[in-house]
Amino acid sequence: MEKIYELQNVHKIYKNFGNENHALNDINLTLNKGEVIVILGPSGSGKSTMLNILSGIDNPSKGKVLFANEDIASFDEEALTLYRRNNLGFIFQSYNLVSNLTVTENIELGAHLSENPLDISKLLKIVGLNDHKNKYPYQLSGGQMQRVAIARALAKNPKVLFCDEPTGALDEKTGKKVLETLQEINKEYGTTMIIVTHNPSIADLAHQVIKMNSGTVKEVIVHENVKDAKDLRWA
Ligand SMILES: Nc1ncnc2c1ncn2[C@@H]1O[C@H](COP(=O)(O)OP(=O)(O)OP(=O)(O)O)[C@@H](O)[C@H]1O
Ligand SMILES: [Mg+2]
Repeated sequence: MEKIYELQNVHKIYKNFGNENHALNDINLTLNKGEVIVILGPSGSGKSTMLNILSGIDNPSKGKVLFANEDIASFDEEALTLYRRNNLGFIFQSYNLVSNLTVTENIELGAHLSENPLDISKLLKIVGLNDHKNKYPYQLSGGQMQRVAIARALAKNPKVLFCDEPTGALDEKTGKKVLETLQEINKEYGTTMIIVTHNPSIADLAHQVIKMNSGTVKEVIVHENVKDAKDLRWA
C-alpha cells in the first residue's frame, strides 16, 4: 500500500486566556492512498482539528505532517496554497452552492484553476444529476445539493477529498445516496477520501476507521472488505 499521509507525534494546543486546550495529543497515523478513511468521535474529540491540520488550514503545535513524504507543517503560505489548490477538495455539512448558477455552472466553478479537470458531463452522470443539470439549487433536494457539492469538489480531480459531516443534514435515504456517490467516485477515480462523522454506521464503508476521543486516537480499525453504501445500517 502506498501511503499518502503520515502524522508523527502531532500535537495541537490552543491557548485561550492562559488556559491550554490539547485538541490533538501525540497523534501517530498512516493513511493509505486511494482509501476511504472515516474519522469517528464525539463532539470536541479533535476531528475537525485533525482535518484542518491534514489540509494545511491550521498548523500543528508540534510534530510532522507528511503528504507524499513532504512535511506540510514546514510549508510557507504560498506552498500551502499550491498544496491545497493542486491536491485537495472539500465538502461540508452545508453545501455552499452559488444560488444564481445552475447545477452545471456550479460544478464548472470547481474546475477553475485546475491543470487536470475531470470531464463535467461524465461527472454529472456519476453523481446522478444529469437530468437536473440545468436546474438551480433551490429546485433540488438536500441530497441532490450535496451531490452537486461533491461534483464541484471533484471537478478539479483532487487527490484527496475531505468531507466534514457530509450527511449531517440529510435523512437516511438521501444520506445513503450521497455515500453511494462518494464510494463510486473512490472506485472510479481512486480519490483518497477522509470523512469526519458522528455517525458510526458510516464506518462500515471505510478501509480504515480512526476512533478519536479527547484529542487522542483510541483505536484504528482496518477493514479487508468494505460494505456497499446501499447496505449500510443507519444508527
Ligand atoms: N480555534 C480554536 N481555539 C480554541 N480551541 C479550539 C479551537 N478549535 C477547536 N478548539 C477546541 O479543540 C477541541 C477539539 O475541537 P474540534 O473542533 O476538533 O472537535 P470535533 O471533534 O470536530 O467536534 P464536533 O464533532 O463538535 O465538530 C475542542 O475542545 C475545541 O473547543
Ligand atoms: Mg468538528
